[in-house]
Amino acid sequence: DWTSDAFAETTIADLKAQLGDDKVVLALSGGVDSSVAAVLLHKAIGKNLHCIFVDNGLLRKNEYESVLEQYKDFGLNIKGVDAKDRFLGELAGVEDPEKKRKIIGRVFIEVFDDEAHQIQDVKWLAQGTIYPDVIESVSVNGPSATIKSHHNVGGLPDFMKLKVVEPLKTLFKDEVRRVGNTLGLESFILGRHPFPGPGLGIRIIGEVTAEKIAILQEADHIYIQNLKDAGLYDQIWQAGAIFLPVRSVGVMGDERTYENVIALRAVESLDGMTADWCHLPYPVLAKISNEIINKVRGINRVVYDISSKPPATIEWE
Ligand code: XMP
Repeated sequence: DWTSDAFAETTIADLKAQLGDDKVVLALSGGVDSSVAAVLLHKAIGKNLHCIFVDNGLLRKNEYESVLEQYKDFGLNIKGVDAKDRFLGELAGVEDPEKKRKIIGRVFIEVFDDEAHQIQDVKWLAQGTIYPDVIESVSVNGPSATIKSHHNVGGLPDFMKLKVVEPLKTLFKDEVRRVGNTLGLESFILGRHPFPGPGLGIRIIGEVTAEKIAILQEADHIYIQNLKDAGLYDQIWQAGAIFLPVRSVGVMGDERTYENVIALRAVESLDGMTADWCHLPYPVLAKISNEIINKVRGINRVVYDISSKPPATIEWE
């Protein structure tokens, strides 16, 4: 039966045999999956693994800088690319969730492709695809029912004639974490909640703007920090804040306010395929709500999402 030690050992040996002296390019996202894939490949082929970490401007507060630092510490051959303005520009005026996902996916591929072309003689594209990604994209999104286009599955542009290597394709999330643990990855990366490829872009309902991103980053940071302080973060499968462009009336001192809403989502799950909303303690919710409303300008109301999947999805878009 399955152990993470055996998986890591066999996979590293297989990757060595399969890749030889070939160069491989991989997009790191800061998430568990791409990080574990990168470390497996790094152990197999060392500097021939070229990692690219794109800042799409839709990451959490301070995430780009801190994650890049961690990867460098780990010895990965990595290049950070600031593409914030390009993503924002392409998203301007777009409200439809699927259009937003497609734009973010396409721009990502364009940016990534530009970078990949700068590596001489690269032969392979590595991806951190895990089993549930494969299932949701292939079976659930049948011809009639595209639930959501997961941009990090497939999506290889024709002009990039790279072979694909996906060392985690058969694993579920908890198995990926166990493999990461075996490989010595730190909890900073391993313990983090899943985060979607399109990032905060699909946690801002409707049009994405720099101002909304800044508001959501602040609110999300307060939320996550409070979950950590309360010792709850590690018990939750995934949590995040969502920006709702719905204005409601409030009162601040003597002033009437008319501002937007932040929704909080926290779910328990094994693999993201189904999920139950977390019954967070009221005192923790109260503290988070107060702090967001008091500190984040542009927000005067906080709500908690009590929907499970199915029928609701984890992300709102
Ligand atoms: P949903 O919203 O479909 O999400 O219930 C299930 C899990 O998948 C994540 N998710 C994504 N992950 N690229 C990703 O890498 C995506 O486009 C994407 N969309 C959703 C979501 O955060 C949850 O963990």
